Amino acid sequence: MTAGDPIVRVEGLVRHYRLPRESLFRPAPVSHALNGVDLTVAPGQSLGIVGESGCGKSTLARLVMALDRPTAGRVEVLGQDLGAMDGRSLRAHRRHFQMVFQDPYGSLDPRQKVRRIVAEPLDAVPDMASDPPARQARVAEVLEAVGLRPTDMDKYPHEFSGGQRQRIAIARALVTRPQVIVADEPVSALDVSVQAQVLNLMLDLQAEFGLTYILISHDLAVVEYVCPQVAVMYLGRVVEQAAAADIFRRPAHPYTQALLAAVPNRTARSGGAGGRRRRAVLQGGAGGAMAMAPGCSFADRCPRAEDRCRIERPALRPVAGESGHLAACHFATEVQGVPGTGAAAGEIASG
Ligand SMILES: Nc1ncnc2c1ncn2[C@@H]1O[C@H](COP(=O)(O)OP(=O)(O)O)[C@@H](O)[C@H]1O
Ligand SMILES: [Mg+2]
Repeated sequence: MTAGDPIVRVEGLVRHYRLPRESLFRPAPVSHALNGVDLTVAPGQSLGIVGESGCGKSTLARLVMALDRPTAGRVEVLGQDLGAMDGRSLRAHRRHFQMVFQDPYGSLDPRQKVRRIVAEPLDAVPDMASDPPARQARVAEVLEAVGLRPTDMDKYPHEFSGGQRQRIAIARALVTRPQVIVADEPVSALDVSVQAQVLNLMLDLQAEFGLTYILISHDLAVVEYVCPQVAVMYLGRVVEQAAAADIFRRPAHPYTQALLAAVPNRTARSGGAGGRRRRAVLQGGAGGAMAMAPGCSFADRCPRAEDRCRIERPALRPVAGESGHLAACHFATEVQGVPGTGAAAGEIASG
């Protein structure tokens, strides 16, 4: 890997889940969680991934972390193809990329002290903090980095608030000095007042340790606050990717336009993630990962859809006149700007 190479590269990533058979005489249904995702993340250019519940965000996170295997496609982290690595080298490579999960209650083992929880990723990195005093010193260091006290290492997770638990989860992710942290809905389970504190902590840590985040959220405000790059997912695909400013000011895909139009008072917001109500102007539901029609997967809900959209799948390609702005829409060059309006329907539910 040389300077300028992406820190994470995802190519043609597909993950289908075969579900239990409903009848002996019918084939098992298949859930199309991811249907060909291409993404690159440049060092220092944190990528936010947004999209409605069920669009495949968590599946993508699990595959990037190699916690699950793809049906097809590949994931490279720091130039290494994760699919080509054996378990041992993968565990060692993971020191460079760690994960923070949504649920700060479920993701920390309630029977372990914070000391053990935070130190656990070091097990896979024998040359780092190899003796007990060095491990303890490293745990104390990361606890301080996330705004907790070193003495907190002798407590159990239940002794902390939700926000503090998410700080513990972040400390655990930091302990191996990773370059990339994948955070799946890291503040969704927290009180609104605590969300901004945790996001500010993430920004501080990024500046201090040179981290690159892949930050997954159904909340556009969260992503906008932290990430200079944004990818919008719809039914297992990336439908738009660009610099955050371009996505928010000049959304090219009708789905992104509808998502943005669903957020009231976007410009009035100040200081981080708010708890504003997000109402979608999208008609109907996303159809779910079971339906895999040909053509554009958004066609059934799209105000612009024409016959072509139901037949021919639009590729993710550059939006005319905008460098680094990609959209998967046949009309991406025509429909920029004015967010769509329409009858309000359906909440964008938490992913
Ligand atoms: N282990 C699994 N088995 C079967 N279906 C799954 C599994 N994981 C995810 N799915 C399905 O894949 C789709 C995407 O899920 P997910 O990645 O969790 O979406 P998101 O995080 O965006 O809400 C959903 O339809 C979900 O039901
Ligand atoms: Mg999810």
